[in-house]
Amino acid sequence: MCGIVAYVGQQDALPIIIKGLKRLEYRGYDSAGVALLNETGLSVYKKKGKVSELENSLLNNGFLHSKIGIGHTRWATHGEPNDANAHPHFSANEKFAMIHNGIIENYEVLKTDLINKGYKFHSDTDSEVFINFIEDIHKHNDCSLEEAVRLALHKVVGAYAIVLMNKEEPDTLIAARKGSPLVIGVGTDEYFLASDATPIIEYTNQVVYLDDYEIAVIRNNKLQIKTIENVEANPYINQLEMELEAIEKGGYEHFMLKEINEQPRSIADCMRGRLDAQAGRLIVGGLRDYINKFQNADRIIIIACGTSWHAGLVAEYLFEEFARIPVEVEYASEFRYRNPVINEGDFVIAISQSGETADTLAAIELAKSKGATIFGVCNVVGSSIARATHAGSYTHAGPEIGVASTKAFTAQISVLTMMALMLGYQRGTLAESKYMQLLNELEAIPAKVEKALESNAQIEYIASQYKDARNFLYLGRGYNFPVALEGALKLKEISYIHAEGYPAAEMKHGPIALIDEEMPVVFIATKDSSYEKIVSNIQEVKARKGKIIAVVTEGDTSVKSMADHVIEIPATHEALVPLLSVIPLQLLSYHIAVMRGCNVDQPRNLAKSVTVE
Ligand code: F6R
Repeated sequence: MCGIVAYVGQQDALPIIIKGLKRLEYRGYDSAGVALLNETGLSVYKKKGKVSELENSLLNNGFLHSKIGIGHTRWATHGEPNDANAHPHFSANEKFAMIHNGIIENYEVLKTDLINKGYKFHSDTDSEVFINFIEDIHKHNDCSLEEAVRLALHKVVGAYAIVLMNKEEPDTLIAARKGSPLVIGVGTDEYFLASDATPIIEYTNQVVYLDDYEIAVIRNNKLQIKTIENVEANPYINQLEMELEAIEKGGYEHFMLKEINEQPRSIADCMRGRLDAQAGRLIVGGLRDYINKFQNADRIIIIACGTSWHAGLVAEYLFEEFARIPVEVEYASEFRYRNPVINEGDFVIAISQSGETADTLAAIELAKSKGATIFGVCNVVGSSIARATHAGSYTHAGPEIGVASTKAFTAQISVLTMMALMLGYQRGTLAESKYMQLLNELEAIPAKVEKALESNAQIEYIASQYKDARNFLYLGRGYNFPVALEGALKLKEISYIHAEGYPAAEMKHGPIALIDEEMPVVFIATKDSSYEKIVSNIQEVKARKGKIIAVVTEGDTSVKSMADHVIEIPATHEALVPLLSVIPLQLLSYHIAVMRGCNVDQPRNLAKSVTVE
């Protein structure tokens, strides 16, 4: 939420910052701004709307040369999206400019105090309070800017990643973080700072991940990191493995479509080096040091939000079926506030694409404080959750830029499936013959996803028939119940059509009242142990004239005779079906959203990583 970029070096800062902001726009896109410093002084330019609108307004102003600059793309928390609330914010004396990602919880107290001292505010943001608080400390302590920042950080409550410029130091950037991500790219005679590595990868693959409570000072082409206790820390340089093309659209109209189509490869990447069905080998390396705890866990608790929570629900079925360990799947936001019972014998799995979700991070800290072992399933390498957990496995889906999660979901399920099979086999609750059969089925999934994607044109036609519907129901049973929830979420978030996912059997307990000839109902009715039951549910909807769109197993004839539309997916073991049955639902929501003229990659009000509670 909110993207920040900064540059200091020998190149023109503005084009680097604008390009970087465009790469980070998935994090927030209601306003954008930059601050630049050259012989004419420190200037701030900001604008409501997309980064391209800021870019156009700057081009009209003539090119602004500067070797140093900071930029921000915003997802509003305090104050509506407008020019004044956009970042960077100047301090009152206009000597300092700052960009901020996060939330300052005690900003009201600080603001009142500053107002009493005569400060005036031009925006409704907590960030403007933050920079003035720093200025006030600077003024009263007669200290350097970094010392003022350090003192201020002891007093602010909340989350932040900040970068500051000082009018009097044209070679200096000061940055700090707590709870919001910040990556420093180390180039030759230049430094880049950003919320994630995507704006940096084009220039350097050497990065330093700033830790919570650390302050970085880049001055005169040197990087120094200190904790807020003023203790010097050694910057650890990581090598990025991301490729530039992974963050570009590659000829697709939208990132979401590209990411849907990438799934055969992203699932294969996720399994690479872990699964070799022929050799009967399955190793989820991240579990190595914790395998005994995992095998002997009394209970598995899964914490996540949104789509990642849906992947957690699929994992509940997997772990209980194959490993016979009780599982609870929790919304991180509820878990952290309800005084949950957590024991040392609990094995907690935190699932997160971004690795930055504030509620999931807080739930991890809570579980850790009660002695539980925490295992992370994250996509973003080096993210806060990946670093806060005891151990973990990356999903290796590659950067997911579309705000609606697609390939991260199937990669999460792939990792969780491998964990469940490995656990079941080692605990002896999954027989060897079945284990081997499942390994082979799993290895065949990428090719079957490729096949499922071939229904794209048919799904586009179905989308054209239902694009004006006002409501949708998604129904599934067993492993396909979480897929129904995920299908409904995808449709809601990108097309703004109201949709609900339900376990199909629950329909009779309420939602059936909604069914009439106007109501499209998406059934996920693949050939599995509850097939006969879901066929009965389809009949119940048909009897009430609902419109039936069914995802079925290749060759199905019974559902075909009842449904208005059927979309076929290849057959596989029922535990692996979610990896295939979600594909048509992703495509359906994509096409409906495009036909309704919605901004698929940047849906209104949403942001890719939710770093506020
Ligand atoms: C939906 C979506 C969100 C995220 C949720 C958790 O398409 O993307 O529901 O799944 O915000 O995010 P992560 O997985 O980054 O923790």
